[in-house]
Amino acid sequence: MQLQQDIRDVVATLLLAVLVLAAVARSDGALCDKSDKAALLSVKSALGNPPALSGWNSTVACCSWKGISCNATTGRVTELTVFALNISAPVPAAIANLTKLQTINFAYNQLYGSIPAFLGPHALPDLTFLRLDGNRLSGSIPPTATVFNLLLVGNQLTGTIPDTFADAVFGDVELSDNQLTGDASMLFGAKKQLNALFLSRNQFKFDLGRVELPEAIDILEIDHNMVYGSIPAAAAARKWLAFNVSYNQLCGPIPQGKYTHRFGPKHFAGNKCLCGRPLPPCT
Ligand SMILES: *[C@@H]1O[C@H](CO)[C@@H](O)[C@H](O)[C@H]1NC(C)=O
Ligand SMILES: *[C@@H]1O[C@H](CO)[C@@H](O)[C@H](O)[C@H]1NC(C)=O
Ligand SMILES: *[C@@H]1O[C@H](CO)[C@@H](O)[C@H](O)[C@H]1NC(C)=O
Ligand SMILES: *[C@@H]1O[C@H](CO)[C@@H](O)[C@H](O)[C@H]1NC(C)=O
Ligand SMILES: *[C@@H]1O[C@H](CO)[C@@H](O)[C@H](O)[C@H]1NC(C)=O
Repeated sequence: MQLQQDIRDVVATLLLAVLVLAAVARSDGALCDKSDKAALLSVKSALGNPPALSGWNSTVACCSWKGISCNATTGRVTELTVFALNISAPVPAAIANLTKLQTINFAYNQLYGSIPAFLGPHALPDLTFLRLDGNRLSGSIPPTATVFNLLLVGNQLTGTIPDTFADAVFGDVELSDNQLTGDASMLFGAKKQLNALFLSRNQFKFDLGRVELPEAIDILEIDHNMVYGSIPAAAAARKWLAFNVSYNQLCGPIPQGKYTHRFGPKHFAGNKCLCGRPLPPCT
């Protein structure tokens, strides 16, 4: 009897020890790559040590810092999010040392200067998600920024889309509300994976009638540009979630399909001579 009780006690104690050890491991005291931590502290310093990042300090392992995620096995930093903190600084160069980053999100700050060339898969091979929307970045988009999800809306970017974008693999490209010019047709193509394209309120100029719509595209927002030609007939067969071609130089019949019928005249208004539902009939 007594022996059984002792065994039960031992088992209970061991169980408790295992649970405590598991909890300690989960709080990842040890798991925080040393050089990534140093790079994050350089990033913090380059951002002017803002009070909002005071939690990025040595009393807490860097993988538990706000906005930081790591690979649980290696302790390497995979996510860097500094979202909507009104931080005014150039993009910190020390980010280039966080070579396992998959996600960078600096949306809605006051970042200024140009987009550095290391923010792409050449320097950061695992990077698939780059959000810099809602900042004050200027200059042109670097040819190296071929990141699968590229969100640069609402900056002061100028120049044309780099030629390298023609052969890159994108899922989501969001460039609205900048001062970009020239051709954007290289983003299209029947075999592309692209499913969302936002180009609104720039000065893009290309023939929409000549592009092949990607098979999976379901968001096309290109209002307020200088896009000419016609809407491709294939648009009738895409399952649009959003579609806005207003205020361009488009002409010809609007392709008629179950999903294009969701959109009212506002989405087609202000063009040269588009016609057919939801606009007046073609004559
Ligand atoms: C370090 O970060 C922790 C957790 O956010 C915070 O409680 C502590 O006050 C910070 N220490 C310093 C010295 O800023
Ligand atoms: C963590 O890193 C290891 C080693 O590089 C890799 O095999 C594993 O897939 C990574 N885990 C995640 C969730 O990315
Ligand atoms: C953002 O920062 C600027 C200075 O860089 C300051 O003038 C402004 O009041 C701040 N806005 C908010 C909402 O904190
Ligand atoms: C990257 O890390 C190396 C080694 O720690 C350091 O010498 C270099 O200055 C870092 N680069 C940047 C841009 O911070
Ligand atoms: C499309 O563009 C027009 C004109 O700018 C705007 O009124 C409308 O709200 C836009 N629709 C969407 C869904 O963004």
